[in-house]
Amino acid sequence: MIDNSSFLKIAKVSKTFSDENGKTPAIKNVTLEVYKGEFVSIIGPSGCGKTTLLRLIAGLDEEYEGDIVLEGKRIEKPGLDRGFIFQEHRLLPWLTIEENVSLGMEGNKENIKEQVKIYMEKVGLSGFEKKYPSQLSGGMAQRAAIARTLIRHPKVLLLDEPLGALDALTKMNMQGEIERIWTADGTTMMMVTHDIDEAIFLGDRVVIMSHRPTEVDQIIPIDLPRPRDRKSKAFAEYRNMVINAFNESIGAYQI
Ligand SMILES: Nc1ncnc2c1ncn2[C@@H]1O[C@H](COP(=O)(O)OP(=O)(O)OP(=O)(O)O)[C@@H](O)[C@H]1O
Ligand SMILES: [Mg+2]
Repeated sequence: MIDNSSFLKIAKVSKTFSDENGKTPAIKNVTLEVYKGEFVSIIGPSGCGKTTLLRLIAGLDEEYEGDIVLEGKRIEKPGLDRGFIFQEHRLLPWLTIEENVSLGMEGNKENIKEQVKIYMEKVGLSGFEKKYPSQLSGGMAQRAAIARTLIRHPKVLLLDEPLGALDALTKMNMQGEIERIWTADGTTMMMVTHDIDEAIFLGDRVVIMSHRPTEVDQIIPIDLPRPRDRKSKAFAEYRNMVINAFNESIGAYQI
């Protein structure tokens, strides 16, 4: 039975890929409930099925068992109610940042311009409207990609290792930026990351996935005030807790 009252409900979802090499079970019986406005961090070993799960939620892959239900509606195709941020920004290099952000938007030109201004401000890129993606740093380009998605008011933003390609310092700054954007915008976010500190810094809960075919292994709620202090004792305790849970979960496997 689907409980339509919850915001995003992932219920007994399984996914097996079939190709000429045979069958690859990627996801097995994943059940997870995401609350409105929540930030959920997802970690798991490489190749376990995290991207597959986000793609199913995005509707980019329509064949799966079980139910993914967003505000009462089973997800079967892509829609503007779900935004997707990839590891690379995927901005179009021949368009300016403002053209990228507003691409395909319809309606009154002045309104769109105003919206672009608001979202450029939200992601801290005011003044860079006329620049091209190649003129931005990796972190700035990723923020532009976030603006391009948030301007369409998705109900949920899915982030697949969005900061994976950035250096450690830029990454830390960007974690702060993402938290700021999340706080300002209130959009529900689900982020896959390989970075345990990042998962704890941003997540209301950290979901630990098992080796492929992946299932939810443990869920660790992070009960720390925001913005979180990476140097605090409490943060270090959560770090140990997540590392222990992760090691237990993957056993002999490697990250
Ligand atoms: N289109 C596809 N066809 C066949 N197999 C696929 C397909 N997409 C993914 N897989 C397989 O499903 C499994 C899970 O892949 P997925 O990309 O979801 O892992 P992941 O957890 O995101 O890994 P990483 O942490 O390295 O990004 C892998 O074994 C992969 O080879
Ligand atoms: Mg992946």
